[in-house]
Amino acid sequence: MMKSRIVSMLLLLSFGVFAQEKAPNMGIVPAPASVKAGRDTFRFEPETIVLVDSPNHKAIKFFADYLKKANLATSVTDRAWVKGKKITVKNTVTLLLDFKGKLPEDGYELKIEEHSIELKGRGAGMFYGIQTLIQLMNKTSVGYASIPCGTIKDSPRFPYRGMHLDVVRHFFDVDFIKKYLDVMAMYKLNRFHWHLTDDQGWRIEIKKYPKLTEVGSKRAQTKIGRAAGPKAIKGLYDNTPYGGFYTQEQIREIVDYANARYITIVPEIEMPSHSLAALAAYPEFSCDPNKTYKVGETWGGFDDVFCPTPETFTALYAILREVMDLFPGEYIHIGGDECNKVAWKKSDYCRQLIADEKLNNVDGLQSYFVRKIEKYVNSQGRRIIGWDEILEGGLAPDATVMSWRGERGGIAAAQLGHDAIMTPGSGGMYFDHVQSHSDQEPLSIGGFAPIEKTYAYEPVPAVLTKDQAKHIIGVQANLWTEYIATPGKVEYMLLPRMLAMAETGWSEAKNKDYENFSELRLPRQLAILDKAGYNYRVPVPIGAADTVLKGDKFSIDLKPSVEGAKIYYTIDGAAPTENDLEYSAPIELTIPEGGAINFKSIVVTASGKRSISTTIKMINKK
Ligand code: ACM
Repeated sequence: MMKSRIVSMLLLLSFGVFAQEKAPNMGIVPAPASVKAGRDTFRFEPETIVLVDSPNHKAIKFFADYLKKANLATSVTDRAWVKGKKITVKNTVTLLLDFKGKLPEDGYELKIEEHSIELKGRGAGMFYGIQTLIQLMNKTSVGYASIPCGTIKDSPRFPYRGMHLDVVRHFFDVDFIKKYLDVMAMYKLNRFHWHLTDDQGWRIEIKKYPKLTEVGSKRAQTKIGRAAGPKAIKGLYDNTPYGGFYTQEQIREIVDYANARYITIVPEIEMPSHSLAALAAYPEFSCDPNKTYKVGETWGGFDDVFCPTPETFTALYAILREVMDLFPGEYIHIGGDECNKVAWKKSDYCRQLIADEKLNNVDGLQSYFVRKIEKYVNSQGRRIIGWDEILEGGLAPDATVMSWRGERGGIAAAQLGHDAIMTPGSGGMYFDHVQSHSDQEPLSIGGFAPIEKTYAYEPVPAVLTKDQAKHIIGVQANLWTEYIATPGKVEYMLLPRMLAMAETGWSEAKNKDYENFSELRLPRQLAILDKAGYNYRVPVPIGAADTVLKGDKFSIDLKPSVEGAKIYYTIDGAAPTENDLEYSAPIELTIPEGGAINFKSIVVTASGKRSISTTIKMINKK
């Protein structure tokens, strides 16, 4: 019998055994530094006591809150209170922040035995240990959960593990931002890069410049359909006003929410480019104040940018001061990307400034701009991050570079002794790019970032020396929302790729294994996300891919890409639905001589989410 490539990859019937033997990571994402799986199971019951040494610590409060919402355990109890008292309960969980002995930065140790769980970690480490513990809980019924025994020692590879969201091209409300932060926290991400201003909207209230939101947060209409390329439909708009912004009060609420999850927000205020919304509100900050500017209604770049005048700097300093009052983190992202400098080239003022400041050209002017902003931000005790264009014309002395146009920017920054965060589109870090080439994917900006590409990305370029490599402080994926107008689509583009990126940020390269991730751990995580109410791109059945196979006999072995999901298939070329054949065991097919079969399959999750369909074409022709 001719076996397809598909067959050799999988052992469907023995999967239960297979999973246990081949899953050293106990199903945890991101893969921990070290895992020793045990044999028994700890049972969480209504009587289970959770003993803690620091009841007011924010990680402990997070866990107490989680247990309450999940209907688990009687209470979280201060260990001091039970000292000397006899505890009669069988199963206890102990969480310790105060203990002797060293752990790596942000690390934790989790020991799960049949009747006891002990978690040790300091600060963020405790929080990450709690996330692991939560991932391991299988809720069996109300008040009950089982947790597999094992010992986990864990700590992150990189200190910066970021996820970006563009709330300008489309706006997402406070509740959704919290949901986004929740899923980041589940996978131990710790930086939320919040892209708050751009050409198409200004989305953060600034008290000193109220028109930024009164005028700048609203656009008259939005381009629909593709904006560029062969499939572009020119001049098609939705004729619908669009807007939204966060009040300072809402921002404080989100900052607190993120802080409770050990996530630091990196706010981005774009300059000098991507500033059309600000110019619509305050034309005096442009190089041509007599012109009328309107908030961008389509995508792509615009020529009008902030003009480097003293008035503009005074305003930007005041804006940044308010931003720094809202966001306590070390970094303020000042954008810096895609400034085409057309307006500067046309400006007599800029020409004179280049001469006065002995700058070489408009690139020098961009560097001058960024340096002035950096000096101000530094004077206020903070640091700037910029997109890799801030290298042009000379890097500001203390700037951290976010490398997005490939790795060149990050490499150059590290070689200059500056910190860099890797977020290259070429490395699968642009989550606005399509996840497959199928025409069943939703409209997107283009690019190609399948999850295996995201997973494979290695953030430390081989050209760097050991010392230079230390400047690669982490990794981030970006989610631009030109073609993403709804929360559901944000989630579709985010998940599951974010889990692949999170593993790159957290796990040592030697602990990464795509097969282990995608076939053994991801299905479990996707079932968790399904229950938690997240949308995501359901991967096609494991073992299925668009392929053409030649021969007469085939055995098709598939596995659902989500635990508990079902696979449906057709053999007549029709797109499968839940009304077609349900796949439950390997199928042996004999193709008549001269014949061909299109075996199409999809995955449907417990909540009804579906994958795109894939086609295995089997041909029996000489
Ligand atoms: C970018 O994608 N323009 C940073």
